[in-house]
Amino acid sequence: MIIPPQTPLKSPPKFIVFEGVNGAGKSTLITRITDHLTAQSKPFVSTREPGSTSLGKVIRPIILEAAKNSICPLSEVFLFAADRAQHVERVIKPALAKGEVVLSDRYFYSTIAFQGYGRGLDKKMIVDVNEIAVANVYPDLVVLLDLDPAIGLKRIEDSRISPAATAQFGKDTTTRSPDAFEDENLDVQTQIRNGFLEIAKTRPEPFLVIDATLHPQAIFNQVREVIECA
Ligand code: TMP
Repeated sequence: MIIPPQTPLKSPPKFIVFEGVNGAGKSTLITRITDHLTAQSKPFVSTREPGSTSLGKVIRPIILEAAKNSICPLSEVFLFAADRAQHVERVIKPALAKGEVVLSDRYFYSTIAFQGYGRGLDKKMIVDVNEIAVANVYPDLVVLLDLDPAIGLKRIEDSRISPAATAQFGKDTTTRSPDAFEDENLDVQTQIRNGFLEIAKTRPEPFLVIDATLHPQAIFNQVREVIECA
């Protein structure tokens, strides 16, 4: 399924966010885009949430390596929001001010999907908290890699034993155990996936929803077409 951006882009997007369930292939796609931008000598910053600032590097393991259920969902929302506020102020805003393209692996849509649809917290509260955290910095385009979470989890599992799968589908997972969300059952993962699709239909920002079972090159081609045709 491919849903084109709901609002046609008026100019090439400067701030692009990548979202999806775990194992959807965001890292692989971002690497292809950064290679492309490098080849075109376009300045860019490739960044991610949580963990792209010195504060974020402290917050990331607190959230992702915590014992199951040791952090309550509302605290998670505030920890992700604190990481995000720092990310916006220290990384995203300065890069955009310098005219650089910003590629962010996750943004507040992940909090709506994971903590809202996944953990069952109030979605309006999450949006309200995050409106404060993002300080009016909204992406020009959100690329949502849509995938059955069972496939995503299998990819992550395979990449733990096969470096080739890691190379094809994204970041190295061979050296770490499942994070707090990879560990969730399939029903919760499915709610998160459906949540992302709902967010894509209801948020005002332009979303490009791509079938993440396609070959990585086909996915990249679709994104390039949208980014370059704008
Ligand atoms: P990553 O594996 O894409 O680096 O994401 C880290 C994990 O954190 C992933 O399982 C999704 C989760 N997450 C949330 O639950 N809420 C958020 O707001 C963000 C940014 C990530």
